Parts: sequence; C-alpha cells; structure tokens
Amino acid sequence: MSFFEIFYSLFILAFIFIAIIIFRHEKISGISATPTLRRTRTVMINMLKRHELHPVRIYDLGSGWGGLLQRLHKEFPNAAVRGYETSFFPYWVSKIFTCFSKNIQIEQKNFFEIEFTHNDVVMCYLSPQHMAKLKSKWESGAGHPGSVISASFPIKGWEPIMVEKRGKLIPSFIYLYKL
Ligand SMILES: C[S@@+](CC[C@H](N)C(=O)[O-])C[C@H]1O[C@@H](n2cnc3c(N)ncnc32)[C@H](O)[C@@H]1O
Repeated sequence: MSFFEIFYSLFILAFIFIAIIIFRHEKISGISATPTLRRTRTVMINMLKRHELHPVRIYDLGSGWGGLLQRLHKEFPNAAVRGYETSFFPYWVSKIFTCFSKNIQIEQKNFFEIEFTHNDVVMCYLSPQHMAKLKSKWESGAGHPGSVISASFPIKGWEPIMVEKRGKLIPSFIYLYKL
C-alpha cells in the first residue's frame, strides 16, 4: 500500500466516523446542524436593527457551526454574543473559528436549561417541536427573553410583531416576537 492509499483510506474512515457522530446527534436532538443562509441572516439582523438599537446580549439557540454568531458579532461588536450547541463537531468547529473573538461565547449545553432576562434577544433556526417547547417553557414563567427572532418556524399561538418573507421560488418566513 502506498502512502497515498493509506492517507486516502484514513481520510475516508475519518469522514465516515464524523458523519456517523453528526447523524447520531441529529436523531437525538431532532434537527440537523444546517446553517442559516446568508440572506436569511441579513433579514434577521435587519429586523433586529429596526427594533433593538443597542442589544446587550444576543443568543443563537442551537448555534451550529457558528456562522450566525460571527455575523452577529460583526454587526453588533459591543453586544455579548452567546451560542449553545450540543452537537460535538459543530460545537468544536465553531469554538475554533471564534476563539479570538472575546465577545463570542459558545457552550456545549442544552439551551432549554437557560434562563433569559428581558434585555436578551434570542435567534432561532430550529423546528416546530423546538419552538413549541420553548413557548411552553417561557409561558410557564421561566426566565424568558425580551425578543425572539425565528427563521422558518413560527411560535404557534403567538402573534409576531413583524414577519419578513425571504426567497421567491421557495419562500420562507422570518418572525419577530416581543415578549
Ligand atoms: C438548524 S441548526 C442552527 C444553525 C445556526 N443557528 C445557524 O444559524 O447557522 C440547529 C442546531 O440546534 C442544535 N440543537 C438542537 N437542540 C438543541 C438543544 N436542546 N441545545 C443546544 N443545541 C441544540 C442542533 O445540534 C443543531 O446544530
């Protein structure tokens, strides 16, 4: 076996191993680590700019590979940007890519355990099940944020103060809620 063949085999094995770990986590958490599209991030940030001139803390619940956190940090350099992510590889990749940004903090933690305050802004790109669970948690009196921006998945039963449409062929919606 040549060096190239050994290297290639190890590469394929590592790829399969990482894919298995990621897919296993997706089955448990009920959602993949698919990042928000650039245009979706722009709409989310513009909504925030229009309604929260100086956000103090911004959270990305299920921060995936960290792309939205980096964009938030760029747009709001004085805000504390926080991410929670349970999936091993997305968490570590996002940690490595943000290690020099002192205003970005990422924890490998279940975001359902987090208590928010009225000054907090929460960004989500999750699933209908995750949004329903967050809603019942916040309605039960647990510390809830002041604003929630959710890409694609509305909070059923709550009235958004703003809805933005993104895309023409396959439209998706972004919802802003004030709590
Ligand atoms: C669609 S991705 C979000 C992408 C990211 N917000 C972005 O904009 O690029 C959803 C992420 O939520 C994570 N997740 C799901 N449930 C979670 C939980 N309870 N606590 C922390 N992370 C969770 C998943 O592992 C997944 O990476």
